[in-house]
Amino acid sequence: MSKVPSPSSLFDLSTQRAVVIGGTGVLGSRFAQCLAAAGARVVVAGRSHERGESVVRTIIAAGGEASFLEIDVTDRASVAGVASQLAASGGTDVLVNAAGVNSRTPFSDLSEEEWQQILDINLGSVFRVSQLFTEQMSHRSGGASIINVSSASSGPPLSRVFAYGAAKSGVNNVTQYLAREFAPLGIRVNALIPGFFPAEQNRSLLTPERIASITAHTPMNRLGEPEELDGALLWLASSRASSFVTGALVHVDGGFSAMSI
Ligand SMILES: NC(=O)c1ccc[n+]([C@@H]2O[C@H](COP(=O)([O-])OP(=O)(O)OC[C@H]3O[C@@H](n4cnc5c(N)ncnc54)[C@H](O)[C@@H]3O)[C@@H](O)[C@H]2O)c1
Repeated sequence: MSKVPSPSSLFDLSTQRAVVIGGTGVLGSRFAQCLAAAGARVVVAGRSHERGESVVRTIIAAGGEASFLEIDVTDRASVAGVASQLAASGGTDVLVNAAGVNSRTPFSDLSEEEWQQILDINLGSVFRVSQLFTEQMSHRSGGASIINVSSASSGPPLSRVFAYGAAKSGVNNVTQYLAREFAPLGIRVNALIPGFFPAEQNRSLLTPERIASITAHTPMNRLGEPEELDGALLWLASSRASSFVTGALVHVDGGFSAMSI
């Protein structure tokens, strides 16, 4: 048996290059800051230049290393452009798929266009990004990690978020498919399943009544705070801390998924 590592070395990402796709969002920006605080060189990839640069400034002010790249996850050429820039600058060890969009349109009113858009941003992105990043993440000296951000809606369907739930259940399936496909390449693939955290994409959905209903079904009786995802993110990102973990669906939800009535 090898020597027991110190907790700090277990989660040390100082030799790692990370990219957070959707790194301009509420959770994605936290993920980017957290990976940078663990020592990773982070690329914040998102649609908004202004927000991305602001996340980068926050990381640099805290002593980390970061830069911004613009990406539209629905546009293959845009994803390919980011992938080739990162391949040329040393490749990628940790990739977080955190772009997402939700909708409160009821099932009966959902248009083909909105259905396609929600599926494409939440699920098509995971396919596209994983495929275009495979080569540069393969056979990294310390192993590589892909973390897909799924949702509580991926389990038994949540009311009101039909297309989003369908997309996120696809994210779970694709995560486990890719875990098998990529294991021989040294890439672990896992999903983080947050419960409910106030953000842009769910602002209009989280009405006081909905929050009451969610918390009533959450043993810890509250919503989550973005920093409560830090530990699970770092665990899955670190190929030392989670070296034998792939295909896992990790719930961070105050017990929401463990509860029936
Ligand atoms: N907040 C929650 O309660 C919660 C719960 C479970 C899962 N999630 C998931 O976490 C991830 C982050 O979401 P968030 O809650 O921080 O919301 P958010 O709205 O703050 O962030 C979503 C990000 O995705 C980006 N995005 C949307 N379309 C894009 C596109 N075409 N190309 C590139 N980027 C695009 C947005 O610009 C934004 O930065 C999403 O996958 C979301 O589904 C969130």
